[in-house]
Amino acid sequence: MKGTRAEDGMKGTRATRVVLFLLFVLLCCTKAASGFKENEFKTCAKSSFCQRLRSVPPEHKYVIESLEADDSGAVRGKVSVVDEDAEDETLHKDIDFALLAYESGVLRLKVSQPGRFEVPEVLLDDLKQVPLTSQSKASAQEIFQFQNSLVVVTLSPMKVEVYGDKSKITTPTVVFNENSLFNFERQVKPGENGSSEWAETFLSHSDTRKNGPMGLSIDVHFPGANHVFGIPERATRFSLPPTKEVHANGEKVLHEPYRLYNLDVFEYLHDHPFGLYGSIPFLTAKKVGSTTGAFWLNAAEMYVDIWKTDKGTSTQWVSESGIVDLFFFIGPEPKDVARQYSSMTGGTQMPQLFSLGYHQCRWNYKDEEDVATVDSNFDHFGIPCDVIWLDIEHTDGKRYMTWDKAHFPTPENMQNSLAEKGRKMVAIVDPHIKKDDSYHIFKEAQGKSYFVRNKDGTDFDGWCWPGSSMYLDMLNPEIRKWWATKFVPEVFKGSTESLYIWNDMNEPSVFNGPEITMHKDNLHYNDIEHRDVHNIYGYLYHMATAEGLVYRGDKSLAKPSDRAFVLSRAFFSGSQRVGPVWTGDNTADWNHLKVSIPMCLTLGVSGLTFSGADVGGFFGNPNSELLTRWYQLGIFYPFFRAHAHIDTKRREPWLFEESVMSNIRSAIQLRYNLMPYIYTLFHMAHKDGAPVMRPIWYEFPEQEDTFSSEDAFLFGPSLLVSPVLEEGAKAVNVLFPGKDLWYDLFGDKVYDAEKTPRVPMPVTMESIPVHVRGGSIIPRRMRPRRNTEAMKKDPFTIVVALDKNQEARGSFYLDDGSSFDFQQKRKFLSSTFVFKNYRLENDVYHNALYFTNEFTKVEKIIVRGLKRKVGKVDGNMTKIKDFSCTQEGGTWTLVIKKPDLSLTENWSLKL
Ligand SMILES: *[C@@H]1O[C@H](CO)[C@@H](O)[C@H](O)[C@H]1NC(C)=O
Ligand SMILES: *[C@@H]1O[C@H](CO)[C@@H](O)[C@H](O)[C@H]1NC(C)=O
Ligand SMILES: *[C@@H]1O[C@H](CO)[C@@H](O)[C@H](O)[C@H]1NC(C)=O
Repeated sequence: MKGTRAEDGMKGTRATRVVLFLLFVLLCCTKAASGFKENEFKTCAKSSFCQRLRSVPPEHKYVIESLEADDSGAVRGKVSVVDEDAEDETLHKDIDFALLAYESGVLRLKVSQPGRFEVPEVLLDDLKQVPLTSQSKASAQEIFQFQNSLVVVTLSPMKVEVYGDKSKITTPTVVFNENSLFNFERQVKPGENGSSEWAETFLSHSDTRKNGPMGLSIDVHFPGANHVFGIPERATRFSLPPTKEVHANGEKVLHEPYRLYNLDVFEYLHDHPFGLYGSIPFLTAKKVGSTTGAFWLNAAEMYVDIWKTDKGTSTQWVSESGIVDLFFFIGPEPKDVARQYSSMTGGTQMPQLFSLGYHQCRWNYKDEEDVATVDSNFDHFGIPCDVIWLDIEHTDGKRYMTWDKAHFPTPENMQNSLAEKGRKMVAIVDPHIKKDDSYHIFKEAQGKSYFVRNKDGTDFDGWCWPGSSMYLDMLNPEIRKWWATKFVPEVFKGSTESLYIWNDMNEPSVFNGPEITMHKDNLHYNDIEHRDVHNIYGYLYHMATAEGLVYRGDKSLAKPSDRAFVLSRAFFSGSQRVGPVWTGDNTADWNHLKVSIPMCLTLGVSGLTFSGADVGGFFGNPNSELLTRWYQLGIFYPFFRAHAHIDTKRREPWLFEESVMSNIRSAIQLRYNLMPYIYTLFHMAHKDGAPVMRPIWYEFPEQEDTFSSEDAFLFGPSLLVSPVLEEGAKAVNVLFPGKDLWYDLFGDKVYDAEKTPRVPMPVTMESIPVHVRGGSIIPRRMRPRRNTEAMKKDPFTIVVALDKNQEARGSFYLDDGSSFDFQQKRKFLSSTFVFKNYRLENDVYHNALYFTNEFTKVEKIIVRGLKRKVGKVDGNMTKIKDFSCTQEGGTWTLVIKKPDLSLTENWSLKL
């Protein structure tokens, strides 16, 4: 085999890291370790910009001057830097200030200096700006209005207060620079002040920092808010614990701030503020009565401090470079903040239906025979599965988009035999390109000078899986376009249209680089330093790969074929438009099972809902109890994939005893039964940014005792999931939010949240507690099938769970599940189910599907929670003959069989 040397070398590297890590765990981490400081990764204390700016008031005063409205209705001016000691001595006047407002309820504040890097490709192209109109102007203060909001700008020292509701101007919604920590390190020419001492070293690495200090600090205060969420990715609590404690006597206790810097953190700890693989500089603040968001579009390394006082929650964000481009989302409801953020950065990609099914992954399925056996075992044991994955070993010596000929001699046949059963395959493609003249991708990219360069302009050579590797410069649009042409079958030999892609290591991971990544003084397109683009590198790579899949049917990249499916590990704001992410290399233990919930909830409220953790845990071997509990939770991750490290024992469900397999199978089948609901949820995420897996406060924004809840969550608006998170648990404490009724999904019990807000619920290994919210209607497909493809023609079951007023509603969305016709030709079905006055209606407001009504038949309607027995059902389209009404608890359940109705038509049933 080729490349064994390099591979052995790599195993050595990984093994070395394992040993180092274990030593480190033994030495210092019994609990809540902060031992990263002494090891591979930086902390604030080791970052000069964080030291210069964190909690440090600026030396000079920042004053806004001469605000003027421009043609678009934006307000612009200059910021001057004033030396207060020298009594109004203006030192500089070259910082630009701008305020812009948008239709969706967003205020944007920009503070910039010409020549600084502005992050591309994140904001949508067609932002709908609205004018800011001046309401009053005084020497110290100017007030503007847009829509229902007021913006109060204090000029000296600069401060911006936003009042979301202009009729209530007692408390601002959000304040910029409340604590006067705003700071803007003006770029100076090297040597201007005789300084050549800008280089910074970390371990054996040196960063020249040729542009000198260019750091930024902003402070954002959320009056009255007692919880903040967001700024992924890290493994910690959902409601972010403060990093600073400010005591009454003014004394401050500092903990490590939250870091945003995309890194490949080996065996990350389950409870640590450290930043992991992706970054979204977006924070949501919550109090009773309002939800607010702040997003800083900046891709450089960033640290965020959070502290709470009796006035609310204050935050300070410091970044190493770039500009201040800050967005305030005024809310007031959680769904408004989600919509406002998505109006700037986009909604979730409408995924292919198959990608919402179950994904079976392992490092590695060894060869084609192994794949065929795994595939046939899913059918043999009646477990649904949509996708089988191949990790790095399938390649020819880690040259991505090639095949190891010995183990995968006929990749097309392998994919085609999966495709015959409606299954797909996913293969890994990473951004490091093996340095090897015989590898066509390397040869071509080198010839075109497409790689990221060292500070001296030579190609950067880093160490990753293939050994010596180079990294494509994804900042350059031409290179992204070129990369996107590599997925046509003529170039990606052995690929077929049922093959999809997985991008790993795209932080980027560089084994021998500082903090396992690239040097900050490496150079990209237009000589932009890596420091400026670090946190978007993985996103840009993900984006180019997805583009490659969308256009792989057409070499000229003009005609899109199907929606892409590309999983990524690194991410940034905007990644939601591209594809799913997962929470990286977790571990098979109960703590990692538990922390997967706050991690996915955090991603969800940060706009990136299509996420999941590796079911079973990547490192280590889960016992059958942990594995079962992980599947039972994992079916409610928006992205549902099992994955395992190469050194772990095989753990496909049929390798366990019958009862274990059967419980896992039931869990996976439930995921498939709920698929019509799940697909509808993804359409909501696509349209309005509504997270699929959502915190309880998203639906119950006034119920303060649930704000920090992370042991339970909602799956869409209608399902409450209370997973088992403890080994050997005999019961789970279920908290029923609101004043609603909650129906046991598996049994006939109904709970009234007003009477029994907390119920210790006994559990067996068969399932975890899941409850349907009274007032909702859920579409399901109940026939057990091998995958989503095989379900496409199945009839639907409509489940109505009535609220206390005997009412319910739900929505339904369906399209072909794969193409762009839903967008380009409006080929989809969209409807609302309404139950009111003992009448169930299907209101179709858009119906343009390809397939006939035969494939949207309703086979069953179940109405739970009726206060009276139903003796008659009148359909306005059909005669209802086959129904029964039985008592369940204190109420009645109606079951209508074969009503001969289609979801494409308007109909009503009167009970
Ligand atoms: C450079 O020196 C000048 C003159 O002493 C001073 O005004 C300025 O603030 C200095 N700039 C920096 C970045 O230290
Ligand atoms: C269903 O009724 C609505 C009015 O309530 C109408 O706009 C729509 O076109 C109807 N759809 C179909 C498929 O008949
Ligand atoms: C049946 O009821 C639905 C919903 O009220 C209505 O849109 C539709 O026109 C009715 N159809 C007939 C044939 O009466």
